[in-house]
Amino acid sequence: MAFSKRDLQNTVKDILGDRLLVIVSNREPYVHVMREGKIECSRPTGGAVTALDPVMRACGGVWVAFGSGNADKKVVDDKDHVKVPPDEKLYNLRRIWLSKEEEAGYYYGFSNRALWPLSHIAYTRPEFRADEWKHYVEVNKKFADAVMEEVGKKEAFVWVQDYHLTLLPQLLKEKRPDLIVSHFWHIPWPNSEVFRICPKKKEILKGLLANDLLGFHIRYHCENFLDTVDKTLEARIDRERYSIVYKGHETLIRAFPISVDFSALSSKASTGEVEKAMVQLKGEYGLNSIDHLIFGLDRIDYTKGIVERIRALDRFLEKYPKYRGKIAFVQMGDLSRIHLKEYKDLNDKINAVVEEINWKYSTEDWAPIIMVRRHLSFKDILAFYRLADICVVSSLHDGMNIVAKEYISSRVDGDGTLLLSHFTGAARELTDSLYINPFDIDEFADKIKQAIEMPKKERKQHMAALRAVVEEKNIYKWAGDIISEFGKIHNHKSE
Ligand code: F6P
Repeated sequence: MAFSKRDLQNTVKDILGDRLLVIVSNREPYVHVMREGKIECSRPTGGAVTALDPVMRACGGVWVAFGSGNADKKVVDDKDHVKVPPDEKLYNLRRIWLSKEEEAGYYYGFSNRALWPLSHIAYTRPEFRADEWKHYVEVNKKFADAVMEEVGKKEAFVWVQDYHLTLLPQLLKEKRPDLIVSHFWHIPWPNSEVFRICPKKKEILKGLLANDLLGFHIRYHCENFLDTVDKTLEARIDRERYSIVYKGHETLIRAFPISVDFSALSSKASTGEVEKAMVQLKGEYGLNSIDHLIFGLDRIDYTKGIVERIRALDRFLEKYPKYRGKIAFVQMGDLSRIHLKEYKDLNDKINAVVEEINWKYSTEDWAPIIMVRRHLSFKDILAFYRLADICVVSSLHDGMNIVAKEYISSRVDGDGTLLLSHFTGAARELTDSLYINPFDIDEFADKIKQAIEMPKKERKQHMAALRAVVEEKNIYKWAGDIISEFGKIHNHKSE
């Protein structure tokens, strides 16, 4: 039997008891924005918040995050709290506010101009700017103050997310050494040769080594982290225990592959509502006459291999002309980090490549690529997953990739093929996917053909195996494993 939401709730009750659970991340799970004079609440895209919201719904507690919506301030109480999800009010969201300068320096700057490309090795050069580091330090302090206000004198487990908050564990431990602090790193950790160029490498590693537990998606990232510390600081690395002792404090390094709420996605994908949306979307996007729908869903980010996938589609149509007029490639993607030049340039490049390829092949009533520009509801996304004969995840480098697991969870009909980049964390678990190397456009084109021509029986066998993996290693298991580890650390400390 797969580990369920109820199992997680029981684990939480056993382990946390009366202690408070505090999640801290840059991105908030719910954002309030003003649209046509009305306040609307929506869910931002992105792996971390998508994965953690079901956990907080099950566990309760406080989630501290940057209030980025233009109506966020209007809905909080005098402690900057708002209860979410809006209709169920299962946990508290504590918002913190950043000035434009802070957001530019900490979020766009050091987090996404430096650490993001540094960690991903997607051949976009990281840039390190002194003023952005200054803001990064200040904002980490701001988060630390907010967490301390939430915790007060209570016993608590603080669970920090991602690369925006590397200094936070140390700041918290300086104030409250008894807190159990854990960090989950949602993106890849690069090898030590790559990380060593970071001018603030020591500060970052010291910050992270104040954690009691530091989690990565896969063992390979844990090993990269151990090597990085080994080459940078005077610390004791224990490769048997997967632990690091720095200045007398031990940090356990563990792999916890993040996942999705398989059963909720499967049930939602089976609803009449989603089935209605499938019919409606086919009509809206002119998909009724095509034989094979290929689908991609990503934040517009240079790590996701979006241009590579369009180039591969071009090569596929060049090499196998009999498929012209018979396939459609639907790409959805929310704009992301658009104030950074690399992201704006990427968006322009995608538009230019789509135009070029559509012009090359289009006929009076057919063009191969459909870029979905309007915001789609989650119901519509599930409908597209169910319509997609092939889902393409072609990241150049990715910590895990949640889309791959969402696609599998929503294929309640047991059909569909996942084309998955070798360079995602998900590739380690989802071994029944059809693997691609997004840097090898010719091979990628052939894999599209292979996916299209795969006999139904074979497709279904692969999908059944993939569904079994995601069902078992679901989001509740991921959180349960981490929270159980908190418990062991707590018991060990109180011995
Ligand atoms: O998946 C990695 C990640 O950093 C998430 O933590 C984050 O939510 C996502 O990318 C989206 O990025 P952003 O929050 O910058 O929009």
